Order: sequence, then structure tokens, then C-alpha cells
Amino acid sequence: MSASASATVQFHDRMLSLGLARVSEAAALAAARLVGRGNEKRADQAAVDAMRRQLNMLEIDGVGVSGEGERAEAPMLFVGERVGTGSGPAVDIALDPLEGTTLTAKDMPNALTVIAMGPRGSMLHAPDVYMDKLAVGPGYPVDVVALAMAPGERVRALAAARGCSPEDITVCILERPRHAEIIAEVRATGAAIRLITDGDVAGVIHCAEAETTGIDMYMGSGGAPEGVLAAAALKCMGGQMWGRLIFRNDEEVARARRAGIENLDRVYARDEMVRADVIFSATGVTNGSIVQGIRREPGWLTTETILMRSKTGSVRRMIYRTPVDRPAAGR
Ligand code: FBP
Repeated sequence: MSASASATVQFHDRMLSLGLARVSEAAALAAARLVGRGNEKRADQAAVDAMRRQLNMLEIDGVGVSGEGERAEAPMLFVGERVGTGSGPAVDIALDPLEGTTLTAKDMPNALTVIAMGPRGSMLHAPDVYMDKLAVGPGYPVDVVALAMAPGERVRALAAARGCSPEDITVCILERPRHAEIIAEVRATGAAIRLITDGDVAGVIHCAEAETTGIDMYMGSGGAPEGVLAAAALKCMGGQMWGRLIFRNDEEVARARRAGIENLDRVYARDEMVRADVIFSATGVTNGSIVQGIRREPGWLTTETILMRSKTGSVRRMIYRTPVDRPAAGR
């Protein structure tokens, strides 16, 4: 089908969503045998290859809008890469075949395979740079907090909106030396901090289910591609998020320009990163607070996937069990 013909095929998110779940499942199954083996690159490569293979079976005319290849020198696809059979709706695809390569290599919690799909032109083309991120769950007034606020001010504003004291707020932050000041400022308010070693897509998602996870707000910098994926998840689950790209040198600025970004200081709200209805799928690689990791029993592998649609707000949790000794496993 020609590009112009595929552009006229409607994005039937309902029909495509199960196919999307297979993609994140396949990546997780491929990474399964590398959990705890101390080799980030091999785990990432296995997930990337499986994701690409599975994506290419979908009846879509897909284009990757984000990727992390350059920054992490990962075996990553994907910015601008065409995926799918080419016949089907024109779609944008944001993905992280293995979100938490180190978590996987060390068998630590919350490694996921993640993918989101929306109509062509609907997602921010995120260059592989850092993004300053801020997120809260649903139920708060619009713009209850802002990137322009100091970290302590954000805690106090959120506490005021919730009608509680700053001590009752928990903030999730990536544990990095670059976050030392943010951490100190948040601590000075009396708020609690859940430090995570990796995996800020999960970090942001935690805000959407604060009662279960105990996390009220996410803040700090991490990968921009992961930021778009987190925005897609929050669009499905509810919650607000803001992101601003961070450029450390001219090369990163050039990367953003190549991605078509003109205003380098722009703050993107959730719906500016993901501008139309989206479907989102994540499968657990290691056990986590969102989904269980791969379970290995003699002869079987079992995955858990969370599959969400922003149009309906539906959340599906899917358990997939496959025999390990068949060539079809993970295909
Ligand atoms: P990888 O799986 O690509 O290693 O990403 C893990 C991660 O923790 C992301 O969740 C986060 O956005 C990014 O790395 C933070 O980058 P850095 O490790 O450079 O601080």
C-alpha cells in the first residue's frame, strides 16, 4: 500500500492493541534468559531484535518517533525507522524494548518492555537527550505544580491541593548525583523520597496509582524517549505530566534540530507529547510494582502485560504462558 493510501486507513486502536501486547511480550520473553546475567547490552539487543521482528508482523505503516541509540550507544533502532507490513494505518511508535537494562542485568525490580502507538504525527519526536520531568496522578487541579517551581514549592503546592502536610507527600526520584540538590530541597520540606536506581517510566506511572504505590509525585531528569512513553501511559491512566528537553552540548542541540524541534526551551504538557489517543503496552521482565516479571517454571515461561487505551481508559492485565521448548515461543 502506498504511503498516501495508508494515511487514509483509520487508526483502529481497539483492533491494534492486542497486537501491541504481543510486541512487548515478545521483547520480554527474549530478555528473559538474560535476567541476572550481568550483560546489559546482550539483554537490550535481544529485546530490540524481538520487538522489531514482532512489530514487522503488524498490519501497520509505522514509524519510530523516539529511540535511545545515540545516547546509550545501545543496539537501538529506531528514530525514523519504518516498521510493520506497510499496509495498514499510518502510526507513530514510541518504544523502549528494555526499560531498565541494568535492572535486568542485575535482576532488580521494575525492568519492563514498553511500547506506545498513536496515529501518525501524534507523538513528540523525542531526540535522544535528557528531559526534565514532573508528574502527578489524577484528581488534582490543572497545573497544580510546574517545572518552573522549585522542588520544595512543588511539594508544598501538591500538599495544599491534597489538603495534607508536606510530610504526607512521597516523591519518586532517580538516584543520581545530578539530583543531589533536588533531593535536598524535597527533604527540607519534610516529604518522603522513594529513590529508584533506574526505570523512570515506572517511576512516573506510579503516580497514577498513588494509593497503591504510595508515590504522589515524580520529578527529575531522565531520557526524553522514556518521557514520551511515560506521558502515553499517564494519558491512559490519568494524571498530569510536564517535560522540558535538556541539552548538554551542541551535538545534542543539533540532534533536536534534526528531530524538527525549534523551541528548545519549550515545556511540553502530557497532551503536547502525546497529542491523540494512544495505546500503551508494558510487559514485566523483572518483578515490579506495575506488573510481575517473567516467571520460569520447568517447561514454561509466563509473562504479565498491562495494556491500556487512552480513548476508553481501559486497563487490561494479561497473563501469557508459553512452552519453552517450541520454536514458536515469543514469536
Ligand atoms: P536504560 O534501560 O536504557 O538503561 O534506561 C534506564 C533509565 O533509568 C531510564 O528509565 C531513565 O530515563 C534513564 O535511564 C536515565 O538515564 P541515566 O542513567 O543516564 O541517568
